[in-house]
Amino acid sequence: MPDSLPTNSKIVAAYRERTLKSAELAATAREMFPSGITHDSRHTAPYGIYVDHAKGSRKWDVDGNEYVDYFGGHGALILGHNHEGVIAAGHHQLDKGTHFGASHPAEVEWGELVKDMVPCAERVRFTSSGTEANLMAFRLARAFTGKSKLVRFVCHFHGWQDHVAFGAKGGVPDGPVPGVLDGIIENVVLIEPGNEDLMRETLSSRDDIAGVILEPTGASFGQIPVTREFVAALRDATTENGTLLLFDEVVTGFRVSPGGAQGHYGITPDLTSLAKILSGGLPGGAVCGRADILELLDFEVAEKKGFQKIGHQGTYNANPMSAIAGVAALKEIRFGGICERASENGAKIRNQMNKMFSEENVPWAAFGDHSAWYVYTNPEGQDIDPMSFDGYAETFEHMSHSGSHPAARKLRLAMLVNGVDITSKPGGTVMAAHTDEDIDITVEAMRQSVRMLREEGDI
Ligand SMILES: Cc1ncc(COP(=O)(O)O)c(C=O)c1O
Repeated sequence: MPDSLPTNSKIVAAYRERTLKSAELAATAREMFPSGITHDSRHTAPYGIYVDHAKGSRKWDVDGNEYVDYFGGHGALILGHNHEGVIAAGHHQLDKGTHFGASHPAEVEWGELVKDMVPCAERVRFTSSGTEANLMAFRLARAFTGKSKLVRFVCHFHGWQDHVAFGAKGGVPDGPVPGVLDGIIENVVLIEPGNEDLMRETLSSRDDIAGVILEPTGASFGQIPVTREFVAALRDATTENGTLLLFDEVVTGFRVSPGGAQGHYGITPDLTSLAKILSGGLPGGAVCGRADILELLDFEVAEKKGFQKIGHQGTYNANPMSAIAGVAALKEIRFGGICERASENGAKIRNQMNKMFSEENVPWAAFGDHSAWYVYTNPEGQDIDPMSFDGYAETFEHMSHSGSHPAARKLRLAMLVNGVDITSKPGGTVMAAHTDEDIDITVEAMRQSVRMLREEGDI
């Protein structure tokens, strides 16, 4: 069993009682998969739920329990589970074939949508995941500038490949990182996000930086937010220093606005990584950006200009199923008011939850922007008013420790017991498919959960 929880907890007992089939599957999985899981974020004590099916804003586990879902396919499903248009497109494509080992019409339509919607996208190259998109973005940045170093911000998450396998949970490595070459660690400069002086000093004091990458609304989709002013300053500083600016819009792309965070801010990076919503809930990713950078992948240009092309393969790049689902999703998002609706839902949850925290006299606050909501669990016991809490005004230390409150793990189980699946941050990503009824259920589940935690002495 992963990290044990108190055996006398009524919350844990209630969770176990209603998830017997999940427990059985977890026990079998433990014999096969390290920790019994296939994604680190599913590491849950005593075990996670096993889901059977989903629809719209809801999902049902193998024991028949229904949940309002705030994972939304790790942020991929802004339209909700099994969106009609995406499913119809997928069925149609399944009948035609899933892989042709050749170019196909849907990839062209998909690329055109990306080019039309994402401001920086003069050229597009599809990959199979966000991790791969970032890997290619780094390679492009190094090849284009001829420089070696990559600047990242502590706590910003960019996938699991070697360059980003450290620092995403905080801290700068002061020794080896298991399995990662020292040379890679030495070529990544990790700095605190949101600190404009430090950022400017880092860029101006060296001439070996190929690119700076960030999640443009802040770490974990704004759980540790950065301001538009910081991002604008970063745009200026990177331009002044001959360094490329890379937006990781794997989450924010097609979510913050149809043109992503860059469309919302009116700040255009040199390169952007996309995934998740991009392919309508199927696997996929893309790197897009300036034509003069992406031409490093172009056979004809390389031959004409006499440079060594960057190689890029990938069995599932722009595969027909992902392409067709992506086309259906992006068409819906482009003019459908989807991003606005998801953001409005996010604001409703945050407001209603803060009213409830005030009523219940809980020293926590719901915060976030756009279609995100997070709970500031106030681990250091500050004197805060939920209704006026401002995540932007908090220190980086406070914000990065918010998820580490001892009650956070039990909160997740309590919410499940009350019919809502939230992430361990704690919080969630909101879909356009969430309804007012879902939001009422969520706030009421949080009310019951904080009462349960209070009864067990956790708050
Ligand atoms: C901001 C960000 N970048 C990159 C990734 C990695 O994407 P993928 O899981 O498709 O490899 C994620 C995944 O959650 C992400 O949130």
